[in-house]
Amino acid sequence: MKPRIYVTRKLPNQIVERLSESCEVRMWEEDDKPVPREVLEEEIKEVDGLYCLLTEQIDASLLEGADKLKVIANMAVGYNNIDIDAAKRLGITVTNTPGVLTETTADLTFSLLMATARRIPEASEYLRDGDWKTWSPMQLTGQDIHGATLGIIGLGRIGEAVAKRAKGFDMKILYHNRSRNREAEERLELHYTELNTLLRECDFVCVLTPFTSETNNMIGKEQLDLMKESAVIINTARGGIINEKALYGALKEKSIWAAGLDVFEEEPISLDHPLLTLPNLVTLPHIGSASIATRMKMADLAATNLLDVLLGEEPPNRVV
Ligand code: GLV
Repeated sequence: MKPRIYVTRKLPNQIVERLSESCEVRMWEEDDKPVPREVLEEEIKEVDGLYCLLTEQIDASLLEGADKLKVIANMAVGYNNIDIDAAKRLGITVTNTPGVLTETTADLTFSLLMATARRIPEASEYLRDGDWKTWSPMQLTGQDIHGATLGIIGLGRIGEAVAKRAKGFDMKILYHNRSRNREAEERLELHYTELNTLLRECDFVCVLTPFTSETNNMIGKEQLDLMKESAVIINTARGGIINEKALYGALKEKSIWAAGLDVFEEEPISLDHPLLTLPNLVTLPHIGSASIATRMKMADLAATNLLDVLLGEEPPNRVV
C-alpha cells in the first residue's frame, strides 16, 4: 500500500504528479488561504508524511495526534514554524529546503536595500500621484549604496551571498554571527565585530539570522538607538528579530533613516498596523525566495526530502 501524505497548499502540477507516483496524496486545494487548523488536525492523524509551508504552525499538540506521521517536509529554509523538540521526541523527521533559495533571497535582500535607500516605491508613487511638477535639487534624495558600510547580522549562506553583491558596490562589510568564519572573512574581505559595534558603524544593516529564542527581539530600542541617523535596516529573515514597536519608534522619531521589511511578527501584517503609516518604511509580502525557478526548486526539494524518508532513504536536508 502506498504511504499517505497531506500537502497543506496547492502545489504546481508536476510536483503533485511526482508525489502521486509513490504516495496517496491529499491536498488543501486553495491557493490563497492556509489550511484551517481543524482540517489539519484531522488530516494529520491519517498520514505518514506532511508537506507543509511556513504558514502552518506545527506544534506539539498537533504532532501528538499524528500517530502514523514519519516526516514533515517544510517548503522553506526556515523551520521556526515547527516544534522541533516535539518532533524529535516523537521520532518524526523534519526537513527543510536550504541552498536552492540562497541566491534568489540575496537578490531580493539587495533589491530591498536599494529600493529603501533610493526611495524607489515612494518615487514611483510620487509620479503616479501627479506630484512630479519639475526636477529639483533635493527632490526624493536618498542614501548612497556604493562605498557605504554594510553590516550583516547572521553570516549563513544568504549572508555570504549578500556580501558578494555588496563587494560589487565597493561596500565595506562588517558581520556579526554566533561564531566567526575566518575562511569567509578572508575570501570576501569581511570584518567580524560585536553586534553593538556593527550597529554603531554601519550605514546599512541586513538581518539574516534564523529566528530562534536567542534572536527573538535581538534588535530592540537599545540596539536601534546605537544606529546612525542616516542608517537603513533591512530584514528578510523573520519578523520578531527586530522588535516592531521599537522599529516604529525609531522610524517615526527619525533616529534611523529608513527600514525595508520583507517579514513581520504577524503575517500577513494587519493593514491598520502603525508601521504601514510610515513613509520611511518599504514593505514586501515575504517574497525573499519568490522567483519562479527557485520556488519550483524548493517545491521539488521538499518533495525529494519527503519521498526519501518515506522510502527509507536518508533525505538531503534533515533538520532532525
Ligand atoms: C522563507 O522565508 C524560507 O524560510 O524559506
